[in-house]
Amino acid sequence: MTPDALPLGPGSLVVVTGAAGAAGTAMVQHLAATGASVVGAGRQQERLDAIAATLGGSSSRFTGQVVDLLDADAVAAWADAVAASHPSGTPRVDGVVHLVGGWRGGSRFHDTTVADAEFLLDQLVRTLQHVSFAFHDHLLASPRSQLVIVSATAAEKPTAGNAAYATAKAAAETWMAALADSFHREQTDSVAAAAATTLVVKALVDDGMRAASAGKDFAGFTDVHDLAAATVALWDVDAATVNGERRVLTP
Ligand SMILES: NC(=O)c1ccc[n+]([C@@H]2O[C@H](COP(=O)([O-])OP(=O)(O)OC[C@H]3O[C@@H](n4cnc5c(N)ncnc54)[C@H](OP(=O)(O)O)[C@@H]3O)[C@@H](O)[C@H]2O)c1
Repeated sequence: MTPDALPLGPGSLVVVTGAAGAAGTAMVQHLAATGASVVGAGRQQERLDAIAATLGGSSSRFTGQVVDLLDADAVAAWADAVAASHPSGTPRVDGVVHLVGGWRGGSRFHDTTVADAEFLLDQLVRTLQHVSFAFHDHLLASPRSQLVIVSATAAEKPTAGNAAYATAKAAAETWMAALADSFHREQTDSVAAAAATTLVVKALVDDGMRAASAGKDFAGFTDVHDLAAATVALWDVDAATVNGERRVLTP
């Protein structure tokens, strides 16, 4: 491994899109704890500022930035600006963890509407398309980078009530497989630099959810800190090893 290809840490720059959701704060905390600089994106500055307040000594390495990930032009311009801020002085991005989510559905097939399906395709697929187009070349410019999404077990085992959600997650997974192929084809060196990796959970749980539902056992749920630790660990292995992988975290 060349010095430039060391795992995530001081001198690295990672982006978390959808940083203000259930998983985002833990993800930013774990990434910032490596010494990396972290840019968190969302729609509401106050929610991003609240993340900074949890980071203690790492807070100076976190920036919360408002961007509408459904606006392709805005995402492209924002990605270029983020890459230009890389601590090395050479434009690049060492990782993007895409956490934009959403859910619509019910218990029966007809509980899901076409409007629900359109909403979920926007949230789970369109935002990923914009982010991956915008950061693709900036990730390839890194000696070791990751674009990570969190999918759901529902994508391969849909139920009547989550048809639109499962369909959108399956589409996102297919998009990631194509992105992995692009990273494989477009790497400039003989050693793969960039990886597209899909982590899969049944559902996520955090301390706030546990406190709000005392007595519920959350069986099969993945704690947001376990998700964050599994994400950070992706930088410890060669990109070629995980590029295109669908890694199931659900016990
Ligand atoms: N939660 C689960 O049980 C579960 C299960 C399986 C998979 N996942 C996946 O895990 C990931 C994280 O889940 P989560 O529950 O933390 O996600 P989430 O809360 O649904 O979404 C995360 C954040 O995305 C932001 N966002 C939404 N639309 C946006 C837009 N157009 N532009 C910019 N930001 C936007 C929101 O920011 P604002 O707050 O600023 O509006 C929100 O806080 C998602 O990909 C989700 O699909 C979650």
